[in-house]
Amino acid sequence: MNVKAAAQSMHNQKLRGLIEDSLKSALQFDSGCPARLREAMEYSLLAPGKRLRPQLVLFAAEACGGAIREALPAAAAVEMIHAYSLVHDDLPAMDDDDLRRGRPTCHKQFDEATAILVGDALLARAFEVLASKIQPAGRAARCCAELASAAGAAKLVGGQADDLDGEVGNDSLDQLESIHRRKTGALFRVSLRLGAIVADATPEQLAALDSYGEHLGLAFQVVDDLLDVSGTEGEVGKRLGKDAERGKTTYPSVLGIEASRERAENLVEQACEAIACFGESAAQLQELALFVQRRNK
Ligand code: IPE
Ligand code: IPE
Ligand code: MG
Ligand code: MG
Ligand code: MG
Repeated sequence: MNVKAAAQSMHNQKLRGLIEDSLKSALQFDSGCPARLREAMEYSLLAPGKRLRPQLVLFAAEACGGAIREALPAAAAVEMIHAYSLVHDDLPAMDDDDLRRGRPTCHKQFDEATAILVGDALLARAFEVLASKIQPAGRAARCCAELASAAGAAKLVGGQADDLDGEVGNDSLDQLESIHRRKTGALFRVSLRLGAIVADATPEQLAALDSYGEHLGLAFQVVDDLLDVSGTEGEVGKRLGKDAERGKTTYPSVLGIEASRERAENLVEQACEAIACFGESAAQLQELALFVQRRNK
């Protein structure tokens, strides 16, 4: 590893530590939170995920010249939305999965009602953290509005609804990408936007990050679909082969495996081109895009 890569890797480790600390501190509640609910929230939020979305928040803030410290509440908030969406996604009424991040899913470890409530509580807490920790108040309100829209009925939740409907078969590439843009892409994009907003980004910087997020979000889901077909359970930490079993429309089912790989590669290239204008300050975002393409977990 050369000196520059080593420095980047050390910086990245430091940020990962700050992200974990911010997640833990987001779960400090008053005495009203029942012990079992708290335990289940910690189980789901602090489990060993890749923390891609909080990294996107921090790297976007950095690319726009902002302070990491000021972006941390937004990093915690997006990971809380993500964790809630996974807990609900795994429920029997949705994907009915029993393995997540290498551990039993929340409803398996606890029970279904607790898993539903964990999702509800993480969703509410995400907005409490944003509204109370981002300064000044106007910026906090803008972050809340952006995150609510990305997590809402026309984006993440709508994408999830159509994804479940996809089990009854709509298999054009356009429909598939429309689902992925909403169920996965919207949270990627808003992560970058929150980092940029906290850093007082220019409209040009926001547009470049939007384009990066748009392409990276799709690439991420292409790879998620590919891993479901050809990953290994030990590495991915979730049950595989479930998409085909449930008759889901996925990239490999529409394009085939080779063309899906090429699509992911292309999308990552486009994502990297979109942020070329930032130069060195976006080195971490470039690195993360390559990770998304090559990941095996
Ligand atoms: C998994 O997301 C769910 C999808 C949106 C496909 P990640 O692969 O980012 O999950 P963790 O956070 O690393 O567990
Ligand atoms: C999950 O998509 C997307 C959200 C939770 C919003 P998937 O159902 O493909 O995710 P995995 O494969 O279970 O992680
Ligand atoms: Mg799902
Ligand atoms: Mg799922
Ligand atoms: Mg999947």
